[in-house]
Amino acid sequence: MDNEIPILQGRHIVVGVTGGIAAYKAADLTSQLVKAGANVDVVMTPAAAEFVRPLTFQALTHRPVALDMFSLLQETEIGHVSLGKRAELMIIAPATANTLAKLAHGMADNMLTTTALACRGPILLVPAMESGMWDNPATLANMDVLQQRGYHAVGPESGRLASGATGTGRMAEPETILDAARWVLGRGGPLSGMAVVVTAGGTREAIDPVRFVGNHSSGKMGFALAFAARDRGADVTLIHGTTSLSGPYGAKIVAVESAEQMQAAVLDSIPGAAGLVMAAAVADYRPTSAAEHKIKKQAEDMCLELTRTPDILATVAGQRARSGHPTVAIGFAAETQDVLENARAKIARKGLDLIVANDVSAADSGFGVDTNRVTIIDAAGRAESLPLMSKAAVAETIIDRLAEILRRP
Ligand SMILES: Cc1cc2nc3c(=O)[nH]c(=O)nc-3n(C[C@H](O)[C@H](O)[C@H](O)COP(=O)(O)O)c2cc1C
Repeated sequence: MDNEIPILQGRHIVVGVTGGIAAYKAADLTSQLVKAGANVDVVMTPAAAEFVRPLTFQALTHRPVALDMFSLLQETEIGHVSLGKRAELMIIAPATANTLAKLAHGMADNMLTTTALACRGPILLVPAMESGMWDNPATLANMDVLQQRGYHAVGPESGRLASGATGTGRMAEPETILDAARWVLGRGGPLSGMAVVVTAGGTREAIDPVRFVGNHSSGKMGFALAFAARDRGADVTLIHGTTSLSGPYGAKIVAVESAEQMQAAVLDSIPGAAGLVMAAAVADYRPTSAAEHKIKKQAEDMCLELTRTPDILATVAGQRARSGHPTVAIGFAAETQDVLENARAKIARKGLDLIVANDVSAADSGFGVDTNRVTIIDAAGRAESLPLMSKAAVAETIIDRLAEILRRP
């Protein structure tokens, strides 16, 4: 299925819904988790059932909703602690001020708080309430206690609240919660504790304040790589050129414009990094000088003098050689002809550990589209051609190769 997300596939996730106005958004979150391939059980507080009917969640998950701790039937079907024991992750969304207070005190007076107390896996809290309730020292102290005990939290966000007022207390959006859940689940992954730097998107080299020399890179491949590395537990730094895409939750995001800025950001980020994946389409040339003011239309023809931009991979390779730091470097070769020959020449020239070659002239791979067909070539020249895949799946494979290289003694 298109929506499936490997880190969520087959994972047992409990969604806890408490009695806040944002409870309706928990239905969307549940639906997204199910579509992503997770096995989702929903547990609700009696107050939550005043806002959204349990039937909604039952229909979305095709499983019974845990609501009544003392129901004989539910006790046989679900059991008051078995959900918590099985859960690889519990997400409490929305988390009311009331439930946060109960959790901070270890209370277990309903099916949700009992499940949370019995939960062996990590718990992700998604608070949502009026700003007055959120700002209350009691709520903030409860959050402090819970976070010190290892609970994770996403949000609340600032914006328009249910009352019509503006303030902090809005529940994070379901997409953000799902992304934060991936971050939590990835923590113990094969890249945990390792820093991975990913570059993405195209650079823009200024001609004047309104024009630039650029390329068609959308950033999709690089962003997919950043998500895949984050899902495997890496501490990701994503350095990207102009794009409208959102980076992975938990990653450090650095936005740059020019090749020079990208080089500075990469050199700043790689000390100590285990891996560097350069998927950005960096301009090879920039206008020799950018005009201070907008260039006016003049003669028929106009000449633009261009100068070579810094070769980031070559600089990085030089720095790796000097520091002796074994940052594994993966580059991309976007070509329109002689793809493999060009890629093989580049891997040797730039001292890379892997190069990912793709033919960007094909309609179904390369710039802008969601799919890619690539060949991964290693330093020994071995080539592995992958079939047409989603960029997300290509990214998963490349990051798995990175993890394999890092596992080598
Ligand atoms: C219309 C309405 C909306 C509410 N919205 C919230 C909310 O967004 N956040 C919150 O913490 N409490 C909210 N409350 C208060 C909770 O429903 C109340 O504290 C309840 O006891 C929570 O129970 P629970 O934590 O067991 O779900 C709201 C109450 C009402 C009547």
